[in-house]
Amino acid sequence: MAKKRIFLSPPHMSGLELDFVRDVFESNYIAPVGPALDEFEAELSAVLDIPYVVAVSCGTAAMHLAMRHLEIEPGDVVMASTLTFIGSVSPVVFQGGELWFIDSDPQNWNMDTALLAQAIEECIRLTGKPPKAVIPTDLYGNCIDIDAVTELCSQYEIPVVIDSAESLGSTYKKRAAGKGGYASIYSFNGNKIITTSSGGLLASDDKDLVEHARKLATQSKEPVPYYHHTEIGYNYRMSNVLAAIGLGQLKVLEDRVKRCREINRQYKQHLAGIEGISFMPEPPYCVSNCWLTVIQIDHSILKKTPEDVRNALEAKNIESRPVWKPMHLQPIFANNRITGGGVSERIFQKGLCLPSGTSMRDSDVAFVSDVLKASLNH
Ligand SMILES: Cc1ncc(COP(=O)(O)O)c(C=O)c1O
Repeated sequence: MAKKRIFLSPPHMSGLELDFVRDVFESNYIAPVGPALDEFEAELSAVLDIPYVVAVSCGTAAMHLAMRHLEIEPGDVVMASTLTFIGSVSPVVFQGGELWFIDSDPQNWNMDTALLAQAIEECIRLTGKPPKAVIPTDLYGNCIDIDAVTELCSQYEIPVVIDSAESLGSTYKKRAAGKGGYASIYSFNGNKIITTSSGGLLASDDKDLVEHARKLATQSKEPVPYYHHTEIGYNYRMSNVLAAIGLGQLKVLEDRVKRCREINRQYKQHLAGIEGISFMPEPPYCVSNCWLTVIQIDHSILKKTPEDVRNALEAKNIESRPVWKPMHLQPIFANNRITGGGVSERIFQKGLCLPSGTSMRDSDVAFVSDVLKASLNH
């Protein structure tokens, strides 16, 4: 019998979700908001220790709402990590803003703060003002050194919107990932550490931002009995049914983080001592959720590319994935500025994301490692 496919990071239900969804059906709060959504938001606010949150249809929508509230407009520069997923930065383009990408720090693969400092000064020289916002991504579970970023950005009064889409459950100096900036966004997409099928969250200490985002997310309907609009909004709110899935998932967030970290530990054990393989470094100030375990394959030593390994894994029905292709290498951003670039390019060339789903058994991790080692003739 063919071996069951091992996916990169499939949804992993706890079994509790159906009870929450059943409650929603029995109360008929199918349409669109309702008590499950309120509860999901309250629980997330407590988990993150961030007072104001709004749950929306996806992480990209959450970032768009933040950019809209910050009034990003044509001509405004927004600086963002280049090593990220496009949903982190496309909202800047929705607003007509101009993206300026910042390379990664080789120590943690997140935005390099020294390069950010350099880019801000260059932006002031060129345009007469600093960027209107900065978006650092907490990559694959690794938190950005947010204290360093906010210390720098506060000198110029630049709001920092942290993209923690991949990093729910990670901690930075014992604080939740995403806490400490002006705002943060999270994703509950099907491949994330917990999922609502599709969903996102915007969180902030700024009540005005979150209240405005909540209004924008519901077609900017004013709080009057009839439909009255003074600005254009979107249909971005999370549905009560999906929030019910989220309630079940939140119950196991800690278990999921533990399992992802354990999978990461097992890969490190199985692949230890192979010269030419290294793992994404975890910075000392962060406990990563290890959403995906990412390795680097050194071609000069192993004579294999990540694509060779990916194909070998695929031949055994194992899904793996290249590291995000940096934004400054995307054809759509060919004319955008980049400060640095070489570090993320090298990570992209050498990187491979290994299957890291929390439903993987120890034997699956061992099997993936064996196939990987065989592909390297090890
Ligand atoms: C770094 C990053 N930013 C933004 C997003 C966008 O989230 P969503 O897919 O929920 O729109 C994702 C995930 O998909 C992501 O990985």
